[in-house]
Amino acid sequence: MISRYLATAAGLVGLAVAQTTSSCNPLNETDCDPNPAFGTNHYWHFNETPSTDLWETTVGYVPYDNDVGATFTVEAQGDSPTIRTLFYFFFGRTEMHLKASPGIGIVSSMMWLSDDLDEVDWELLGYNNSYATTNYFGKGREDFSVAESHYMKDGMQDDYHNYTTTWTSSMIEWYIDGDKVRTLKADDANSTQNYPQTPMRLSIGIWAGGDPSLPDGTREWAGGTTDYTKGPFNMYVKSVTVEDYSSGKEYTYGDQTGTWKSIDITAGNSTAYEALHTTPKKSTAEKWESLPTATKTAVYASGAGAAAVGLAGLAFFFLRARRAGNAEAAAANEKAESERHELMSFKNGEDTANQGHEYSSGGWSRL
Ligand SMILES: *[C@@H]1O[C@H](CO)[C@@H](O)[C@H](O)[C@H]1NC(C)=O
Ligand SMILES: *[C@@H]1O[C@H](CO)[C@@H](O)[C@H](O)[C@H]1NC(C)=O
Ligand SMILES: *[C@@H]1O[C@H](CO)[C@@H](O)[C@H](O)[C@H]1NC(C)=O
Ligand SMILES: *[C@@H]1O[C@H](CO)[C@@H](O)[C@H](O)[C@H]1NC(C)=O
Ligand SMILES: *[C@@H]1O[C@H](CO)[C@@H](O)[C@H](O)[C@H]1NC(C)=O
Repeated sequence: MISRYLATAAGLVGLAVAQTTSSCNPLNETDCDPNPAFGTNHYWHFNETPSTDLWETTVGYVPYDNDVGATFTVEAQGDSPTIRTLFYFFFGRTEMHLKASPGIGIVSSMMWLSDDLDEVDWELLGYNNSYATTNYFGKGREDFSVAESHYMKDGMQDDYHNYTTTWTSSMIEWYIDGDKVRTLKADDANSTQNYPQTPMRLSIGIWAGGDPSLPDGTREWAGGTTDYTKGPFNMYVKSVTVEDYSSGKEYTYGDQTGTWKSIDITAGNSTAYEALHTTPKKSTAEKWESLPTATKTAVYASGAGAAAVGLAGLAFFFLRARRAGNAEAAAANEKAESERHELMSFKNGEDTANQGHEYSSGGWSRL
């Protein structure tokens, strides 16, 4: 029913409409980089920015807060804040505690996507508070007939609910608040041809399927045209758990079949595993947050941004160095220098993760 509508929009919009590109598709190319594995499991309480060793903000800006968790906001046309794991899991389980956004045309999304475009989705449409949608795609094939809707007695927008998905080589199961709402057997997905079976990254984001620039069919699917004056529209994610059923350091496509049997697992501890077992790095955003207001003002105000960051940044880090004591001052200075460079790239917009309100252009096509 919605199939034809969506097919026209695929590629234009980002999350949760069959993805049609990836930076290196192993079915087409033989020299794709291996997928960094997760190889472990972890629970993130989104009361603080998760380690930048493990998650990246691919579009927009996502604040983290003790009470509500991560907030994903559509306020204006083009907003589609999105976060994604840097690691891949190869069969596994994700659990998200999420409060969906209201709003006509607004889509709250959780998506697994592999490099050869296998995909597993939750799509919570702001216009329809009574039904959650699940979907999957194999190898980016645009078969939209397999979406299903699941009744939610209490709706999705007033409170957090537990959206869990489990995945093995033979079956995917979707759960809402502990109740299994859908089972997909591999054999039932185009005789396994469309069964998602390659290492996945998890993306979480919000977007406006009802944006006036999108095709009629997409807006219709999303419940109508989004009226931005009714916003801002917020989706909240309190926590996420990811479990990788495989363990290892990397996953590599051994051939161009895209079958799970073709995936080679390199043994060892993953980068993610190492990151979880060492002191987390402060994100650039947190460093930014921790700067004195005067420094930030200087950065904002300066036309010659680099110079301003240089001076103000140095002043700040020198102060900190002094506090650290003479013995550590030299090391701190060296660190300050590298952080200064990082802040400069921040100001110059190289760090897409935290551009405040300067949302990256073309965000939708980025994923
Ligand atoms: C492989 O590459 C060709 C040419 O670039 C493209 O048309 C095709 O869609 C690609 N196939 C996949 C599965 O990405
Ligand atoms: C919500 O979705 C369900 C299932 O697709 C559909 O039956 C229902 O009519 C939708 N509600 C609205 C308000 O359109
Ligand atoms: C969320 O649902 C999953 C699947 O039923 C369940 O295993 C898990 O324990 C639930 N989480 C919480 C916090 O209840
Ligand atoms: C089923 O898989 C075959 C490849 O074996 C593919 O050509 C066909 O398009 C798939 N069907 C659908 C509906 O995706
Ligand atoms: C992986 O990490 C564990 C400690 O968590 C360590 O004992 C083990 O030697 C590591 N393995 C490799 C291959 O580095």
